[in-house]
Amino acid sequence: MKYALVTGASKGIGKAIALELAKRNHPLLLIARSEDLLEALAREIRDSFHVEVHCKAVDLTTATSANELVEWCESNQYHVDILVNNAGFGLWGAFGDLPLDGQLEMMNLNMTSLVAITHSFLPLLSKSDRSYILNVASIASFLAIPHFSIYAATKAFVLSFSRSLRFDIAEQGIKVSCLCPGATESEFLERAGMEAIGEKASGVYMSAEAVAKIGVSGMLRGKAEIVPGLVNKIATTGIWAAPRSIMESIAGSIYRKRTSS
Ligand SMILES: NC(=O)c1ccc[n+]([C@@H]2O[C@H](COP(=O)([O-])OP(=O)(O)OC[C@H]3O[C@@H](n4cnc5c(N)ncnc54)[C@H](OP(=O)(O)O)[C@@H]3O)[C@@H](O)[C@H]2O)c1
Repeated sequence: MKYALVTGASKGIGKAIALELAKRNHPLLLIARSEDLLEALAREIRDSFHVEVHCKAVDLTTATSANELVEWCESNQYHVDILVNNAGFGLWGAFGDLPLDGQLEMMNLNMTSLVAITHSFLPLLSKSDRSYILNVASIASFLAIPHFSIYAATKAFVLSFSRSLRFDIAEQGIKVSCLCPGATESEFLERAGMEAIGEKASGVYMSAEAVAKIGVSGMLRGKAEIVPGLVNKIATTGIWAAPRSIMESIAGSIYRKRTSS
């Protein structure tokens, strides 16, 4: 039996990706910090789709977490053929105003932990004839965003890393895709402290389920980059076409924190 390991599976896009894979009868390994939410999702998946599911509550910002996950898989003989690196968060505000600790934690989860898990799981993934890595970045990967600068930089890293890794490990039969969602309904805004921006963008939100469906089918088709939804596709095309400084200035005026917000 081959499993899909999904990080950040307790809620939002990761939960929706887990449900999408369950619909396709794929056994699952669910990872996040909230054990109760993972167990509830595992019960829902077993009841609705009758696929095998196991959970592990892990804080992925700890230095040992990637090894812990590999040891858990090896000792239980969970063979992994899909790795979804989805766990991540954002923090909204001017660089100097946001506490350094929070920004370093975000870099740790969004980049370091993703790299460590990917590296640690390569030997396991390469045991299958065909396997997949789906890294969750963002449309923020395509543009430097003032007042969201470290988050956008972490997601630019994820996109760049995913695109080159795709070539590095192609001969091992591992396909790498990068999912770049735009505004998506989840608890992301709350953790980022971005509710005020969220209200402005309410018309363009996609559901986590729609993003997950497009993400999983793009991954299984081996797409390098998956931008879900027409609005996001238009936005990313616009970012490529227009001069960077103009786009950064527009982004800066959208993302600037106003004292009234
Ligand atoms: N929502 C958007 O608009 C949007 C747009 C573009 C990209 N994204 C990206 O999509 C991904 C998923 O975000 P989301 O929107 O679904 O946000 P979300 O609803 O806040 O979910 C985040 C997930 O990450 C997990 N997580 C957070 N910190 C963790 C840690 N230290 N260790 C282990 N797991 C941790 C959370 O679980 P626990 O709290 O239980 O640990 C949760 O399952 C992120 O990488 C985000 O950057 C989101």
